[in-house]
Amino acid sequence: MATLITNIKSLINVRNVPSVIRGKQLKDLPVIDNAYLIVEDGFIADFGKMEECEFTVKDFATSFDATGKMILPSWCDSHTHLVFPASRENEFIDKINGLSYSEIAEKGGGILSSANKLAHLSEDELYNDAYKRLQAVAKMGTGAIEIKSGYGLSVEGELKMLRVIKRLKQNSSVVIKATFLGAHAVPAAYKQNKKGYIKTILEEMLPAIADQKLADFIDVFCEEGFYTPAETELICRAGAAYGLKAKIHANQLTVSGGVEAAVNVGALSADHLESMDEASIQALAHSNTMGTLLPSAAFFLRMPYQPARKLIDADCLIALASDYNPGSSPSGNMNFVIALSCIQMKMQPEEAINAATLNGAYAMDVHDVAGSITIGKFANLILTKEIPSIHYLPYAFGENNIENIMLRGNWLS
Ligand code: NIG
Ligand code: FE
Repeated sequence: MATLITNIKSLINVRNVPSVIRGKQLKDLPVIDNAYLIVEDGFIADFGKMEECEFTVKDFATSFDATGKMILPSWCDSHTHLVFPASRENEFIDKINGLSYSEIAEKGGGILSSANKLAHLSEDELYNDAYKRLQAVAKMGTGAIEIKSGYGLSVEGELKMLRVIKRLKQNSSVVIKATFLGAHAVPAAYKQNKKGYIKTILEEMLPAIADQKLADFIDVFCEEGFYTPAETELICRAGAAYGLKAKIHANQLTVSGGVEAAVNVGALSADHLESMDEASIQALAHSNTMGTLLPSAAFFLRMPYQPARKLIDADCLIALASDYNPGSSPSGNMNFVIALSCIQMKMQPEEAINAATLNGAYAMDVHDVAGSITIGKFANLILTKEIPSIHYLPYAFGENNIENIMLRGNWLS
């Protein structure tokens, strides 16, 4: 089945030979104004300037006139915890009353309270809630997403979460990657025995996950009070032996050494980066590890924003993601993430769009099928409403400027 889309005001992030981009290259967002696009069997089949279009709507089963509207590749949200048992708005009130993320964790809230709830929730309930969230973020333009485990913190709990992610993969047209985050916190039962829990991760969780092919990546929360850089490297190297590339929670609350650990193990990405010193910026700049910025987590926890300009000036690879989770970013709205990155981190809209599409796709190894308007990639697209310019998207923050979404060739509405 083929669809012809005509009169597209601007076709955004058009790349014949896409490659990951860093530093100054992020500002270059290739666009075709007044364009057409052909979608066939769920894939991008052709595109170009309207005046060079050799086709007419009669040649196609379906067509769409996009006059005044723009088309972008879907957002590639490369860091989320979209599978979780319940919201935690009680902690939101604690935060308003002045408690920090670490203080909430210390008094039994945070990740451990989610783990407690997850243990009592059936796999079907977990799946149904996560599927609803996935549908909701797809409507907001997310066409590829990475989802982590990490609220199980037991062999059975982690496997349960990863099986839920596998079911989401099977039942959604959103491109999905699964990350094993057994080292998200130290479970209560191992409070005095972190070594014992790490042994469980290495000797029980990883072999079972690899055997059942449940994960694409491995992650560790490298942070004071959670996992040290040495433990992070140990766990990531064990994951690598099973073919899992690392994506690491690094430098969120403190300058944790997480970035250096990520670079040392050749991680695909080092994520968060609210707390960066010159050494960690330089370590990232001289690596092929993607620095994934999560500004909505900084916003929600009232942390300093990630130093995006410094990272771009230092020639780092940069992506943007939502960190959707119940504790530090209870929103998976990538439109807001992009607006925040422009408003608070002074990224140019072109840089933000590249970071949330092309580089986001690289940060979760889906660049062969997502992240740009390229022949052969999935037709996972955002159709905007009539907007004056692409800069209007982050400028008019909080306004819904998406008219429709296409996932693998099918319009959502
Ligand atoms: O990326 N920092 C660690 N993990 C999540 C928060 C998880 C939670 O609070 O439930 C994050 O911010
Ligand atoms: Fe996270």
